[in-house]
Amino acid sequence: MSRWTKVIGTGGYLPATIRTNDDISNMVDTSDSWIYERTGIKSRRIAGPDETASSMAEVAARQAIDAAGIAAADIDMIVVATGTPERVYPSTACLLQERLGIKQCVGFDIQAACSGSVYGLSIADQYIKTGFAKNVLVVGSEICSRIVDWSDRSTCILFGDGAGAVLLTGSDEPGILSTHIHSDGGYEDLLYCPNPQVAAAAKQHEPAYISMRGNEVFKVAVNTLGRIVDETLAANGLQQSDIDWLVPHQANTRIIAATAKKLGMSMDQVILTLENQGNTSSASVLLAFNEGVRDGRIQRGQTVLMEAFGAGFTWGSVLLRY
Ligand code: COA
Repeated sequence: MSRWTKVIGTGGYLPATIRTNDDISNMVDTSDSWIYERTGIKSRRIAGPDETASSMAEVAARQAIDAAGIAAADIDMIVVATGTPERVYPSTACLLQERLGIKQCVGFDIQAACSGSVYGLSIADQYIKTGFAKNVLVVGSEICSRIVDWSDRSTCILFGDGAGAVLLTGSDEPGILSTHIHSDGGYEDLLYCPNPQVAAAAKQHEPAYISMRGNEVFKVAVNTLGRIVDETLAANGLQQSDIDWLVPHQANTRIIAATAKKLGMSMDQVILTLENQGNTSSASVLLAFNEGVRDGRIQRGQTVLMEAFGAGFTWGSVLLRY
C-alpha cells in the first residue's frame, strides 16, 4: 500500500477550430465586450465532426503517459469524467482503454458535471491508497458544443471543448494531501441537460441542451466554493499563505476571482485558461493544471489547490503537493 498518490504526468488537448465572441455575435444578440466583461471569455475551441470524447481523451492521455515515462500497459485503472460520451455504453473509459491498447485494466466513467475531474482525482486517490490500483489515468473530456443550444445567448457564450489528463501513481513522497467531494441534488432546476434519446422515447419532448439559470448558479457557486476553501484549509491545518497555486474550474473569471480573494491570493497565483477555452466542464481543471505544469509555473514541491463546482450541484477540492 502507498501512503501517497503522486502526479507523474499531465496532458491536454484542444480542438483546432477557434470560435470567437465575434463569431457568436453573428449567431445571437450579444457582443464581444458583454461576454468578456461578464465572463472573462474571448474564445473557445470547437471539436470537429470526426472528434469524440474518446478521441480527444486519447491525445491528452498519450501526453500524460509520455510525460510519466511509463508504458500504457502499466496503467491498471482508467477513470473518465464526461457529460458528453459518444456512447451510452461502452463507457468512454473502455473506448479509451482500447485506443491505448491496454489489455488488463479497470475502466469506468463518472458523471459529476463540471466537478468530474476533481471527483475523478478523489476516486483515484482512494484506490491507490488502498493498494487496489498502482497507476491510475484520470481524464476529463468534453464536447460541450454538441449539447449547447447555439440560439440561446445565455449559455452558448460559456462553453468549449477539450480534454485534460493526469497520470497518478502510489508513492512514499507526499502528493495528494486531501480530497473533499460533495453533492446536493436539490438544484436540478438551476442547471441540467436532458438525455435526448431517453426523453424522446418517454415522449418528454425537452430540448436536448444545457439549461441554466446563470445568475442563481453564480451565487451558489461563489458561496459554495468559499466553503470548500475553508474546509480544505482546516482539514490540513494550513493557512491561506501555504497555497502556491489555485487551479480552479474555469466557469467565470468573477467566480474565480472571488475564490482567489477568499484565499488572499493575487490573480498571478491562479492558473486561468478560460479566456481562450471557455468552460470545458469536467476537462477544465485538468487542462489548467496541465498548462501550469508544462509552462513551468507549477514547480515540484509546490502546494496546489484545485476546486470545482457543477450541475447537481456537485463540488469539491483536491489539495496536492506537486
Ligand atoms: N449577451 C448580451 N446580453 C445577455 C447575454 C448575452 N450573451 N446573456 C444574457 N444577457 C442579458 C440578459 O437577458 C439580461 O437582460 P435583462 O436585464 O434585460 O433581463 C442581462 O443580460 C443580465 O442577465 P443575467 O443572467 O443576470 O447576467 P449575469 O451577469 O448573471 O451573467 C452569466 C450571465 C451566465 C455570464 C453568469 O450568470 C454566469 O456566469 N453564471 C454562472 C454560470 C456557471 O458558472 N455555470 C456553470 C457552472 S459549472
